Amino acid sequence: MTIKPSERHRQLTVGEVAARSGVAVSTLHFYENKGLIQSERNRGNQRRYSREVLRRVAIIKVAQRTGIPLASIAEALSTLPQGRTPTAADWRRLSAGWKEDLDDRINKLIGLRDQLNTCIGCGCLSMQDCPLRNPWDELSEQGPGPRLLDPVADAD
Ligand code: FES
Repeated sequence: MTIKPSERHRQLTVGEVAARSGVAVSTLHFYENKGLIQSERNRGNQRRYSREVLRRVAIIKVAQRTGIPLASIAEALSTLPQGRTPTAADWRRLSAGWKEDLDDRINKLIGLRDQLNTCIGCGCLSMQDCPLRNPWDELSEQGPGPRLLDPVADAD
């Protein structure tokens, strides 16, 4: 779609941003409340967005699809200059930073899946033996019972 030169600098209403980005108006308001996007107010106190917001919303949607928390997305977007459309180079830099986080989450999920394989067909849900019931129970190496709440047990 070609934008007429006269249209190029016209700011967009929230409805236009919603229609073009495929994101609900309420979601755009939410993004704005979280500091992910910004608008200006016209004389009638209505929100107006510069066109660069469309690319920011696209980045937010793709990042959310990969499970990046909104706080991390906001932090990453805050590194971009306001008022400039995020470029392909910006996107490469942001997505490279998120790839490491995605790889880490994938590896944790693979570990959980492997532990679940142990549980399938077992059903013990044992605090001592089940890796999913009590995955990081380092205190169990000190003995049974509430190790942090029972000082007597510690003295034994
Ligand atoms: S249910 Fe038995 S090991 Fe998890």
